[in-house]
Amino acid sequence: AKYESILTSRPEPGVALVTLNRPKALNALNVALFRELNEALHLIDADKEIGAIVITGSEKAFAAGADIKQMKDKSFADAYQNKFLESWQQIASIRKPIIAAVSGYALGGGCELALMADILLAAPNAQFGQPEVKIGTVTGGGGSQRLTRAVGKSRAMELTLTGRTWSAQEAVAWGMASRVVGEGDGEVVREAVALAAEIAAKSQIAVQAQKEAVNAAFEQGLSEGLRTERRLFHMTFATADQKEGMAAFVEKRKPNFTNS
Ligand code: HXC
Repeated sequence: AKYESILTSRPEPGVALVTLNRPKALNALNVALFRELNEALHLIDADKEIGAIVITGSEKAFAAGADIKQMKDKSFADAYQNKFLESWQQIASIRKPIIAAVSGYALGGGCELALMADILLAAPNAQFGQPEVKIGTVTGGGGSQRLTRAVGKSRAMELTLTGRTWSAQEAVAWGMASRVVGEGDGEVVREAVALAAEIAAKSQIAVQAQKEAVNAAFEQGLSEGLRTERRLFHMTFATADQKEGMAAFVEKRKPNFTNS
């Protein structure tokens, strides 16, 4: 196989499934896994056959965090000069929608990875947490920023200052996850793949521009975000898919999108 720490497959037309695969270490995120994940996501992003991406782990662990064994003896000089975990941010540049299907532990960097996804579906046994404070460090992969935007300041403070875990139900109640899915093994992955297939059947230009527009709500102020949205909206009028989508509506038929 091409990769050692992840598995990639196409469970449905238009859908790429990336499975974190270091089961003995509960999918702890080491440097090699990150390199492979970034490479796989960039290849998938460039693949015209794929419209949406699902990232998952195992039943027991989505990912139990950055690899503590690998980083425990790291020096400041090494971390700073070699930009430790800076490549993490590359995931945020993926254009295609990413759905995280989370079962079991999503702790530390694992929780932060799930927070980087565009849609988060949680299995009933999902357990989220930012326990960095318990091992003498702080969130390093966006937890302080994305978790705070997702659940609000008071909860983000309580969760990160105690390091306590929270449940799938809490994640949904707070708006961090969209829903709790299924009871059976693998149900959350099947549901995520079905959702990805539904998205992949749409105009990919519209889907990707829509993702960009929603992300502007996280990264920009209101007037700048509204301007971004309007520009993207105007831009769609230069696409064949907008002409086809609206013509199909008027002609009472299904659209045939060409991603152009
Ligand atoms: C390295 C890890 C690991 C991790 C688990 N393992 N988490 N190895 N880094 N983050 C390894 C264990 O050492 C063990 O291997 C094996 O996985 C199984 O773990 P156990 O602890 O035996 O399992 P269990 O008793 O079921 O407990 C599960 C757990 C616990 C509650 C998830 O493993 C745990 O607390 N893990 C650490 C969680 C954490 O602190 N994450 C945040 C990391 S800091 P061996 O070979 O020893 O038996 C972080 C910073 C992010 O993420 C920075 C930005 C990216």
